[in-house]
Amino acid sequence: MTFPVVRMRRNRRTAWSRRLVAENRISSADLILPIIVIEGQNRRETISTMPGVERLSIDLATEVAAEAAALGIPALALFPAIAADLKSEDGAEALKLDNLLGRAVTHIKRQVPEIGLIADVALDPYTSHGHDGLLVDGEIVNDATVAVLCKQALAEAEAGVDIVAPSDMMDGRIGAIREALDAAGHQNVQILSYAAKYASIFYGPFRDALSTRGLLKGDKRTYQMDVANGDEALREIELDLAEGADMVMVKPGMPYLDVIHRVKTNFGVPTFAYHVSGEYAMLRFAAQAGAFEYEPALMEALLCFRRAGADAVLTYGALDAAKRLKAG
Ligand code: PBG
Repeated sequence: MTFPVVRMRRNRRTAWSRRLVAENRISSADLILPIIVIEGQNRRETISTMPGVERLSIDLATEVAAEAAALGIPALALFPAIAADLKSEDGAEALKLDNLLGRAVTHIKRQVPEIGLIADVALDPYTSHGHDGLLVDGEIVNDATVAVLCKQALAEAEAGVDIVAPSDMMDGRIGAIREALDAAGHQNVQILSYAAKYASIFYGPFRDALSTRGLLKGDKRTYQMDVANGDEALREIELDLAEGADMVMVKPGMPYLDVIHRVKTNFGVPTFAYHVSGEYAMLRFAAQAGAFEYEPALMEALLCFRRAGADAVLTYGALDAAKRLKAG
């Protein structure tokens, strides 16, 4: 049957009918809020390339955590922006239990126990060269980096991180980290693998936020994926699942919806998308220029992630979206 018997617009005529036939929804339970933490008390710093996002001292980050929990956001992803003089060639600061991240985790866990805490496993916030792994003779060495990442994951688990999220793209790190966690009695610590992480230009503002942009020697193309590839993402995901990943992530998000869809369809596992700093900045700057309004654009982007198959989205707009969802 076709027109005039079939009229696709019938179901779209009224708001209640559109709601009734909607195939996807976004709720605050699908959002993860990244927070960038700094030292100090009652300190907040703006980030010029990320309007609306601030680096926060632990006390202020804790207030935001409480707000996020009250809005129904299940988890935070914490990132430390550490002082330049703590960065080193080997990123040793990453292994200290009482480093900035460790103290943030302990404090937020105590004050806001109902929210899940996620932390990256990767050395880039801690290295003087801005890379995620150990740099030896101009090369990011795989196996030695994995050994350090296991120690970093352990330090994070000891501090109280619920989900460790390896974002380094070394080979074999998921299995090694799982083994190290289990051997230390951390069987319940979950692993969210940044499994399909691309060497993307869209991470620019995040590198400003962590002050790693100016430090980065070269690029990350020998470990992060080539933007041209889709099949390779499925292999990465398959390997990380076989090594014990509990959840997988595709990153960046909006230009990679095809990858999200393929991952969810092929594996049917918890699949997260990272709406990264550059994508968030695009919405903010376009809105500032009058191209559209920020919030409806954010809500559209988030719903599209769900349509593509993402179970949850890490987004710097998580609080804005959750507030809007609560308002109805
Ligand atoms: C580093 C890391 C990056 C992001 C999260 N973890 C940047 C990078 O790989 O250079 C990017 C997040 C964003 O852009 O919002 N391991």
